[in-house]
Amino acid sequence: MIYLTRHEHFNAAHKLYNANWSPEKNEEVFGKCANANWHGHNYELMVTVKGEINQETGFLMDVKVLSKIIQEHVCEHLDHRNLNLDVPFLQGKHPSTENVAIAIWNQIVPHLPNGVQLHRIRLYETPRIGVDYYGE
Ligand code: NI
Repeated sequence: MIYLTRHEHFNAAHKLYNANWSPEKNEEVFGKCANANWHGHNYELMVTVKGEINQETGFLMDVKVLSKIIQEHVCEHLDHRNLNLDVPFLQGKHPSTENVAIAIWNQIVPHLPNGVQLHRIRLYETPRIGVDYYGE
């Protein structure tokens, strides 16, 4: 079993807000991410796939193909968008880094070639804060 990671990047705006709470409680829980008029993050996305090496190529898969899958099904939908409003696959989801990582997993899985499994979505919203999702 070998693991292959592709690193991609997107910028997006969001707001974290629970409509059932007072503005004070939202500020207390979500801090600057509760700002009413949105704010942006420079997201760093690392997609790791796993499987067996193809003996003819020496590759797990063509990394250009992996990059194209991530671009088409994730980054083109998220880059320079508002994650609360603009993204069909995030509709009805609170766009925390956790929830965005799970949604990205679901966007990628159906498009991987036979014999290649998604292993991990790693999503950083700042250089110091990120999440890992392994599909469960
Ligand atoms: Ni934020």
